[in-house]
This record gives sequence, C-alpha cells and structure tokens, in this order.
Amino acid sequence: MSSPSLLERQRTHTCNDLLPKDVGSEVVLMGWVQYMRDFHGRIFIDLRDRHGLTQLVFKPETSSALRDQAEKLGREFCIGIKGVVEDRLKNGGAANPRLKTGDIEVSVLELEVFNTSATPPFLIEDDLDTNEEKRLEFRTLDLRRPKIQKNLAIRHRMMQATRRHFDDHGFLEMETPLLVKYTPGGARNFLVPSRLNPGKFYALAESPQLYKQMFMMSGLDRYFQIVKCFRDEDLRQDRQPEFTQIDVEMSWATETVVQTLIEGLVCRIFQDAIGQQLPQPFQRMTYDEAMSRFGVDKPDLRFGLEHTDITALVREHDGGGVKLLQDVIAKPGTLVKVMVVPKKHEISNTEVDRLKDVAKGLGGEVGWSRVEEGGTWAKGFGKAMSAGLREAINQATGAQAGDVVMFQFGKPSIVHTVLGGLRVHLRDKLKLVELDANGVSKEWRVLWVTDFPLFEHDDDKKSWAAAHHPFTAPQQGHEDKLLSDPGSCRARAYDLVLNGNEVGGGSIRIHDSAVQAKVFEALGISDEDKQKKFGFLLEALKYGCPPHGGIALGLDRFCMLLCGGSSLRDVIAYPKTQKGTDLLTDAPTAVSDKQLLELFIQTTAKADDVA
Ligand code: AMO
Repeated sequence: MSSPSLLERQRTHTCNDLLPKDVGSEVVLMGWVQYMRDFHGRIFIDLRDRHGLTQLVFKPETSSALRDQAEKLGREFCIGIKGVVEDRLKNGGAANPRLKTGDIEVSVLELEVFNTSATPPFLIEDDLDTNEEKRLEFRTLDLRRPKIQKNLAIRHRMMQATRRHFDDHGFLEMETPLLVKYTPGGARNFLVPSRLNPGKFYALAESPQLYKQMFMMSGLDRYFQIVKCFRDEDLRQDRQPEFTQIDVEMSWATETVVQTLIEGLVCRIFQDAIGQQLPQPFQRMTYDEAMSRFGVDKPDLRFGLEHTDITALVREHDGGGVKLLQDVIAKPGTLVKVMVVPKKHEISNTEVDRLKDVAKGLGGEVGWSRVEEGGTWAKGFGKAMSAGLREAINQATGAQAGDVVMFQFGKPSIVHTVLGGLRVHLRDKLKLVELDANGVSKEWRVLWVTDFPLFEHDDDKKSWAAAHHPFTAPQQGHEDKLLSDPGSCRARAYDLVLNGNEVGGGSIRIHDSAVQAKVFEALGISDEDKQKKFGFLLEALKYGCPPHGGIALGLDRFCMLLCGGSSLRDVIAYPKTQKGTDLLTDAPTAVSDKQLLELFIQTTAKADDVA
C-alpha cells in the first residue's frame, strides 16, 4: 500500500512562516518550484507559494533516492514536502537577509509531486521584461508573480475595510441589476440582446445610479455595494470597460455628511490595506480654483508648477506689442496663462523645445522664454514683448533669473488642457514626485474638488450635457436659471482626487420631480422622451422621496495608486487590453449565424472583422 498523501496531513506552514525558533520542528509545505540548483551533491530548491519562499534541501545522506527524485523536478512543478527545519548557518550555508525565512532551510524527508509543469513561457519573477500581451495571454502564470499577488491582496484588504466601515455605520450591502434599461446620456453602454423580446436590448449597467436612488425612495436609508460597472469607452491606462466601484447612497445627506463618511472610509482603507495614516479633514478646493491654478479638475498637489492667469495684464498692456497676443485678446472669452518652471528643476532649452511635441499632442502650441539676470527674457516671446508687460508678468508669477516662462493662450478649454497636460508631463519628466522602490508615492495628497458646473456645453451637438449626471442637484438658488442660463448653474457635486487621479465622484441628488423634469428639459430631452426613458424615476419621485446623496469610488484606480501600478491591469485579475479584448480567453469572439438568428440579429461586419 502506498503511503498516505501529504494532503491528508495538510500544510503546517506557508512558505513565508518559518523562523529560527522553528528549527527542529517537522513541517509540511506545499507550493511551486521557483528555482533549483545542485550544490556539492545537495539539491536546493526555492519553494514558492503566495506568501513567500522557503529554501528546501535534499541531502544525499538523508536519502539518495529522494535526492535523485528531486533532481528531476523542474520550474513550476507543484509539490508537497515533509521535512525538518534546520539552521542554514549550522548547515554550512549563508543566511539570505532578503527573505523572511532566510535564516532557515527545510531538510526534506518526503516529497510528493502533485503535478509536473511544461516549461513556462516566462519566468515567474517580478522584474520581467516579457511583453504585456504575452503575460495577459498566460495570465494564470502571470498571476503567480509575487508582485501581482501582493496587489490582489491589497485589493482584498481594501474590500474588507470597505465592508467593515459601512457595516459599522449602518449601511446595507444591497445588489442591483446588471441587465438594465438603456438610458441616454453618460457613457456609451454595452447592449445585450433579449432572446425573449425580439429586437429589444438590455444595457449593461454603467453604474447603479438610479437603482441606488430608488433604494432611498424605498426607505432603505443607507446603501453600499462593491459593484461591477460596464462602459464601452475608449480605453486608457486608467480606464477599463469592466471596472469596480465602491458605490454609496444615503438619505438625509448633505455634502459634509457624505464627505465625512468617505474620509473615514479612505483613512480606514489606507490603514488596513497599506498601514498608513492620512490626516483629516481632507483639503477642499473649488472647481474654478483647480482650473485656474492647475488647468485640471483633478490637480496633483504633490508639486508646484502652478499656472497664472495673465489675461487682464495682457489686456492692460495691449498685448505687450506682440501681435499674437493682441489677436487673442481681441476675441471675447479667450484666456492667456503662464506656467513658470523654476531654475532649480534644471530644464534645458532643448528639453523645453521638445515640449512643443507634447503640446501638439494635447491639441495646442506653446510659446516660452527664459528669464535672464535683470528680468529680461532671452528667447521667443520675450524678445518682442514690451518691458512693461514682461515686468508685470515677472511680478505676477514671481519668475526669477534662470526660470522658464511658458505661455498658452486662446480658447479656455484648450489653454487648460495644454498647460494642465504639460504640468503633468513635467512632473514625470523632471521626477518632481518621490516614489518608493515599488513605484508607490511617498506622499499622499487627497483633495475634495467642489462647486462643479452643472452642465457642460457640447459645441459639436450645440446642446448642454450634464457635467456629472442628470440626477445631480443644482446649488441652492440655481434652480431658477436651469433654462435661462444653464452655463452659470453650479452643481452640488464633488470629486475625490488622490495625487492627481479622480478616484471618486458623487453629488447630492434632485429629490423634487419638478426640478428633475426641468433639468431634463435643459438637456434638450423632449417631454415624450422624458416619459419614455425616465418615466419610472419621475413617477417614483412623486411619493415622498427623501433628500439624498452619495458617491462612487473607483476601486481599481484607488488600488492602482496604493500598489504603485501604472495601469489598471496591474490590479485587476483578468483585465481587458486597450482594444477591449481578453487575451487569456480570446473574448470577444464571433458567434454562429444560428446564434445570431435566435437573437433576431444580423451582423454587418465582414468575415475578416468577425474572425
Ligand atoms: P463616475 O462616473 O464619476 O460616477 O464614476 C465614479 C468613479 O469610478 C471610476 N471610473 C472608472 N474606473 C475605471 N475604468 C473606468 N472606465 C471608469 N469610469 C469611472 C473613477 C470615478 O471617479 N454613479 C456615479 C457616482 C455617483 O454620483 O454616486 C458615477 O458612476 O474613479
């Protein structure tokens, strides 16, 4: 009869547990062969599990048969061992200070090979130069890498902290449907055909927004959910088509109530997930201030390079004699802004010149000058500008000799995008923020951005769109301007910004059906469409809807920052590529004509497209 499997005994320790105090104990470990070497007839193996590494030694004097068996093992074989913990130094070896288990090794008495392994397409190590496509194709192996396992453990702790926090504050975790009614506006939806309702489609929920509001109307008071959301958007490093929100709604809410609750959550997540404390309360800044000082509504406050609006100065000095500036200020609603890059950042003229390409990528151009001793400007703009305007700009910005003054002028949206984008580009280029060895920021700057506009003008469609979503309440007194002056209405909306990333957004909602109907009207939604698309909401609002508000945090984005990742793919177990494909399973795939027929669908894609 063969001896019982080690599985009957189960593992006694993980591969990150054993310390000098355990020397002499008999242990059972399970894991994968990370690395093996033959040293003076002894076989040494690094055994890996998700917790860490432990060195195993197969000694010929213990059992030559066992040693020979070990010699046949290979990378990624899945094995179990029984052995005795020994002191590495006493065995004539050297301690490994980089490993928690680096003082001991386990002398193996029994080996069980659970499974052999084909040669893996890449090594299971953190510092890989294997391209990402290969890693995503073999994601099962990729997920064995310690770094990504650590990231997933941080994500787990974030989720547990979230559940504890909301449970402690009387919130109910409630689920909402993922197959929902298509509603216009907001992100582009994925559509799902309904076989039982020919020609009709569900949308995959882009967020549980309306359901969570209706929970409040149902008297459920305090809701949260860790929920998948789906958006068919163009993808970037910080966007996935399928992502996770920490979604929250509460009745009787004000901005302060929601923000205080979320500050508590964020602090708890920092503490539980990465053991760091954040100071409270978080800083607050209005949307206008953020745009004016940083050109973006999610400013990174870890470094300077603030912008200065010099439109008034340029007007006062009639463009300083510079034709370009004179033309710009002649047009109404234009903006002239500058960003000063101080001398201490040691940016060369060639490097500044290269920024023109970056500016072009952002949709604009950039003019610049370097300040000389005595405040004159050496190049470009400076040459032609009147001394009066130049001195006024130096004074307004505090520019000193050696500093670079960068200009941006024209339509405000372009000015902000270009100068804001250049600021972030320079942060990375000039290494203006400190990262640790894992790429995690050494400093955390959390900020509430408030007082957003309620609407944004869509110049192409020549209509107004909701800046947050159409259920966001206007600020007090702005209800009357919804139709007459939509551009001046401000929202009771707030974003949570962490180190220049939008990690959350929310608002106080409209709880009055008349105001809601007016907002739909301002958005150009006809009476008929209002009823057809949102009739259920307008109806529900009629029956004693409580004042309510909430927020959603992007779990993936937040987790990426805590892990020091550069892409959401670093913190999502099975992510999609930039093209929205899953390289592991090869989704999406074509389906047969028969399947399409069952769904009452025909495709117009050519055979090549559907291959
Ligand atoms: P919003 O659309 O601002 O608000 O989304 C909330 C947060 O979700 C994250 N996020 C994303 N993360 C990854 N990939 C994406 N494609 C993606 N899109 C958004 C961001 C963002 O801040 N229902 C409202 C919330 C509310 O009003 O309560 C909503 O979804 O971090």
